[in-house]
Amino acid sequence: MRALHWAVAAASAVAVAAALGLSAAAPSAGAPAPSPDPSRRPGSSGGPAPATPVTYGPRPFFLMDGVRSRALRSRLEACAGQVATRTDWSIGHRGAPLMFPEHTKESYVAAARMGAGIIECDVTFTKDKQLVCRHAQCDLHTSTNILATALAAKCTTPFSPATNSTAATASCCASDLTLAEFRTLTGKMDGADESATTVEAYMAGTPASRTDLYASGGATGTLLTHAESIRLIRSLGARFTPELKPPAVAMPFRGLTQAAYAQALIDEYKAAGVPPEEVRPQSFALDDVRYWLSAEPRFGRQAIYLDGRYNEPPFNHTRPPSWAPSMDELSAAGVRTLGSPLWMLLREEGDAIRPSVYATAAAAAGIDLIAWTLERSGSPPAGWYFQTLPRLAQTDGDVLTVLDVLAQQVRVRGVFSDWPATTTYYANCMGL
Ligand SMILES: *[C@@H]1O[C@H](CO)[C@@H](O)[C@H](O)[C@H]1NC(C)=O
Ligand SMILES: *[C@@H]1O[C@H](CO)[C@@H](O)[C@H](O)[C@H]1NC(C)=O
Repeated sequence: MRALHWAVAAASAVAVAAALGLSAAAPSAGAPAPSPDPSRRPGSSGGPAPATPVTYGPRPFFLMDGVRSRALRSRLEACAGQVATRTDWSIGHRGAPLMFPEHTKESYVAAARMGAGIIECDVTFTKDKQLVCRHAQCDLHTSTNILATALAAKCTTPFSPATNSTAATASCCASDLTLAEFRTLTGKMDGADESATTVEAYMAGTPASRTDLYASGGATGTLLTHAESIRLIRSLGARFTPELKPPAVAMPFRGLTQAAYAQALIDEYKAAGVPPEEVRPQSFALDDVRYWLSAEPRFGRQAIYLDGRYNEPPFNHTRPPSWAPSMDELSAAGVRTLGSPLWMLLREEGDAIRPSVYATAAAAAGIDLIAWTLERSGSPPAGWYFQTLPRLAQTDGDVLTVLDVLAQQVRVRGVFSDWPATTTYYANCMGL
């Protein structure tokens, strides 16, 4: 386990702002005032701002065509004429990275246009301790054009080509760059060809199930600070689920402690005037969640503890005695929501997909569940995300069957998707 023991009172907002070099003048002061949207249906969720128009596009219908259960297919088809409506059940995972470069303005806008009621910014920090949206502190070499720019010289590990016996390597971190330098980069589809012998070939590593269609023109792939993501997502009428990513640098980093980092994330919502009820902060580190529960309880009660314990033997999601903490202990610690990989929530029983013992135990302890990540596995839906469904998740249509079990039997409160139109369509159809 991680050995962080944070003093609750240690992170006063002022000290944190000072450590981060933030000025007291909130960058959001100039955000446009929300105005009422007459097209908004009562009961639809989302932020206070006018909603961007929502559309499904063809993909949910394509998936529906392949649903094997006639009853489920009929039920979904009966919703074909429904009005597309934003819903918090549909969560844009890194935006809409099935086709748009993750954590860019374009990706977040695409997620909002597909009805994501909540859009995710993964949060890390630059050399000058400014919070930015990236999936990892050190993924600039796969998710931006840095290697093709002069800033490549600043990378922690410069590019080195593949040889017959070794893969190509590079590691470029947000913490290698100032925010001003970070801003000069362009987002690209995440991926690298590790067999490449040139930078150009290394960067052309987009998985075949994705596309460079929205990431190759000069005006695409706009990177964002966390504060900018707040203004953008709010202007789109959506809510927030920032994830505090683990630092790749030793902490404290230039005076920034882990607690100050966790506090800084919350402070940017406060500075923007966003109510805590619209923010679901996430972390794989239980200590981050504990920090928010203690220091920022209104945000902390909304927090999502991302369960990555499948990487920590002897944890086994099918054997409750191996869970430490147990579900009851998590609940007693104040954890209200677990974010779990969808395979941990499901199991096969004969010809049916059923909730796992893990999902059942969470419900019994009064803990809400959020599942990740749909539409991330290419076609057909095999691989890591479907590892507990080797027989029953085989076709594109099975994705909707999986979603149906997550909704109706596991009763998840939301689903992260790389293509939120699918989750939005389902949620709208089922009144979620
Ligand atoms: C690498 O492999 C290629 C083709 O298999 C071969 O022609 C070349 O001699 C090898 N180079 C080295 C350094 O082993
Ligand atoms: C988890 O436990 C189950 C049932 O005891 C077992 O079949 C499975 O192999 C275990 N998984 C791992 C990764 O150890």
